[in-house]
Amino acid sequence: MIDCLHRLHRLLCPLAVVFFLSAGLAAGVAAQPAPTTAAPAAAMAPRVLACTVCHGKEGRATPDGYFPRIAGKPAGYLANQLLNFRDGRRSYPQMTYLIEHLTDDYLREMAEHFAALDLPYPPPPPPQAPPAVLEQGRRLVQQGDVARNVPACVACHGAAMTGVAPSIPGLLGLPRDYLNSQLGAWKTGQRRAHAPDCMADIARQLTPEEVSAVSAWLAAQPVAAGGKPARTLPAAMPARCGGVADVPVAGR
Ligand code: HEC
Ligand code: HEC
Repeated sequence: MIDCLHRLHRLLCPLAVVFFLSAGLAAGVAAQPAPTTAAPAAAMAPRVLACTVCHGKEGRATPDGYFPRIAGKPAGYLANQLLNFRDGRRSYPQMTYLIEHLTDDYLREMAEHFAALDLPYPPPPPPQAPPAVLEQGRRLVQQGDVARNVPACVACHGAAMTGVAPSIPGLLGLPRDYLNSQLGAWKTGQRRAHAPDCMADIARQLTPEEVSAVSAWLAAQPVAAGGKPARTLPAAMPARCGGVADVPVAGR
C-alpha cells in the first residue's frame, strides 16, 4: 500500500487506502472533540495527516500531479471549500468521506491550520503548450476580453495572482490538469460556490480552447512573493462573489 501511496496517480489506488485514512481520521476526531477556540498547530498536525496522503507533505502538493496544494492558501477560502465539499457544492467522494461529519468550527480550524503554513513552492513545470496558446492565456488572465465582458482574472486574484486574504485563492502553484478540471466543473455546474457564483459566470464565458490556454499559462508561472495572498486590490472587484466579503481597495 505504501508503494501505492507514493505514486502520483493515487486516484487509482485500491479503496483500502481510503478506508485506512478515514479510520485514522475518525479515530482522531472522536478521541478529541473539536474545541470552540483554535487549537494550537501542534494539536492539529497529527489529525490532518490523512489529508497529506493526497495533498502532499504538509499540504504542499507538487505541481506534477492532480491534487491541489492547500498549504498557505487564504483561510477563508479553504474553509469555504471544506464546507462546499461537505455540503455537496463540490464533489470528490474519497475526500468528502473524511469530512462529512465534521462541524463548521472543526473545518474552520483545519483551514486555519493549513493557511498558517509558510512553505516554499517548487519551480513550475516547463510550459505544456505552444507560445501562441500561452500568449492567449496570458492575455486573458491579465487583461480579460473587454469586447466580451470577460474580466481580467488579476482583477480579483491580485496582480501577483497569489489571491487576496481571506477568501480569494491564488492561481499559481496549481497543476494544469487541476485548473482545467475546476474551470470545466464550473462550466457544467459540478463545482459551485455560494451565490452569486462569480466563477461560474466567468468560466461559462470561456471557450474550451480559452480554458486550456489559461490553464497552460498559469501552471507554467513561478510563484511570486512566496505565494502570500495580498491584503488589498488596486480597484474594486468587477463582480460580486458569494462567500467573499468586500475586498479593501488600496489607498482608499
Ligand atoms: C483521497 C485523496 C484526498 C484526501 C485524503 C483529501 N483530499 Fe482534499 N482534495 C482532493 C482532491 C482530488 C481535490 C480536488 C477535487 C476537485 O477536483 O475539485 C481536493 C480538494 C481540496 C481542497 C480545495 C482546494 C482548492 O484549492 O480549492 C481542500 C481545502 C482540501 N482538499 C482539503 C483537504 C483536507 C483538510 C483533507 C483531510 C481532512 C483532505 N483534503 C483530504 C483529494 C483528497
Ligand atoms: C469577480 C472576481 C473574480 C474574477 C474576475 C475571477 N475570479 Fe477566479 N475566483 C474568484 C473567487 C471568489 C474564487 C473562490 C470561489 C470559491 O469560493 O469556490 C475563485 C476561484 C478560482 C479558481 C479555483 C482555485 C482553486 O484552488 O481551486 C480558479 C481556478 C479561478 N478562480 C480561475 C480564474 C480565472 C482563470 C479567471 C479569469 C478568466 C478568474 N478566476 C477570474 C473570483 C474571481
